[in-house]
Amino acid sequence: MDINKIRQDFTMLSSNKKMQGHDLVYFDNAATSLKPKSVLNSIAKYYEEYTSNSHRGDYDLEYEVDVAIDRTRESVARLINCDSDEVVFTSGTTMSLNMVAYAYAMKYLNKEDEIIISEVEHASNILPWYKVREVTGCSIKFVPLDENYKVTKENLLKVISNKTKIVSLAHISNVIGEEIDVKELAKVIHSFGALFVVDGAQSVPHKKIDVKDLDCDFLAFSAHKMLGPTGVGVLYAKKELLEKMDTYQVGGGMNEIFKTNFEVVPHKAPTKFEGGTMNIEGIIAFNEAIKYLENIGLDNIEKRELELKAYAIKKLEELDNVVIYNKHSSSGIITFNIKDVFAQDAATYFNSQGIAVRSGQHCAKLLNDKLGTVATVRASLYFYNTEEEIDKFVEACKHGGDFLNAYF
Ligand code: ALA
Repeated sequence: MDINKIRQDFTMLSSNKKMQGHDLVYFDNAATSLKPKSVLNSIAKYYEEYTSNSHRGDYDLEYEVDVAIDRTRESVARLINCDSDEVVFTSGTTMSLNMVAYAYAMKYLNKEDEIIISEVEHASNILPWYKVREVTGCSIKFVPLDENYKVTKENLLKVISNKTKIVSLAHISNVIGEEIDVKELAKVIHSFGALFVVDGAQSVPHKKIDVKDLDCDFLAFSAHKMLGPTGVGVLYAKKELLEKMDTYQVGGGMNEIFKTNFEVVPHKAPTKFEGGTMNIEGIIAFNEAIKYLENIGLDNIEKRELELKAYAIKKLEELDNVVIYNKHSSSGIITFNIKDVFAQDAATYFNSQGIAVRSGQHCAKLLNDKLGTVATVRASLYFYNTEEEIDKFVEACKHGGDFLNAYF
């Protein structure tokens, strides 16, 4: 992997971009990734050369849009190894998970049923299930976490039962960065006749995913965390589930016919879930993001990130003012605190040094009690980061207690 060449592809990394007078060190990739020029060019090209809606008109520009959208759908299918009609475009992981909750769970669950989630989940994989509970009267159970804040088969077996209809878990947690064994858990979940919803927001951008091999029933992820534009996401679901699901957002484009007797005939999936004008330029540009990742190779990306993470952890362990919460996790996410410094103050200090990290509760508000802290700092790496950037970050950690200087 030629990192210097790769960094040239990202304007934010190659244009001498400064933050607070320092070269930018972008370590907030779990929140959103930077975008390569090919993605930006694709967006501009749509607006400059073939602006038109999709699936509605009978002229050349529109045909070009339809072909481009189908191309992205095929690329997503290739990326995660499913059929292209199992790929629904959404606005992001949040919408994808809400779609499963509203269009599947609310239709099929009742008050006898149970849903299993965990305390490590992001709000978008908790709150939709709270809504399902509110509407259907079903119960929600939290699977206990192990000492690394991870969901294991043994712990899942303590709570799963024949009443369980859905288990919904993050493939990789957005705070702890721990990866669950989806394949092993899927076998357990299916043996109880339940469905497995996987939040892939932090896994699909960073490693090779094969939904057939994992055998999950649903997989939700966002384009913007994997070099693509904001406002685009994917819900993968096994074909028979998509057909069984209710519609989610109704309107133009998703129906075959509707009548004054209130009969509505939706299109077949995935079109029945894609009502309204979609984020056309975003979907088209997402194809460039996928091609970029595939070109480097998802296995190479994962390997590179784990190397960077190991390098960072080794250096951070030498500092006695840093508490790391996830030394051994299997991703490029490092969650930590500077001793005796509030996380947001530390992040302000990092900002003063040109380093972008996230601080607070990271939308995973049930986890902090487990970690025994009110807030943490999160540095999240991507393949385009470098050891030199980590050195700057480690140097800043040494002075993280000087945060008051950052305010003046
Ligand atoms: N889910 C994103 C994060 O973890 C926004 O930062």
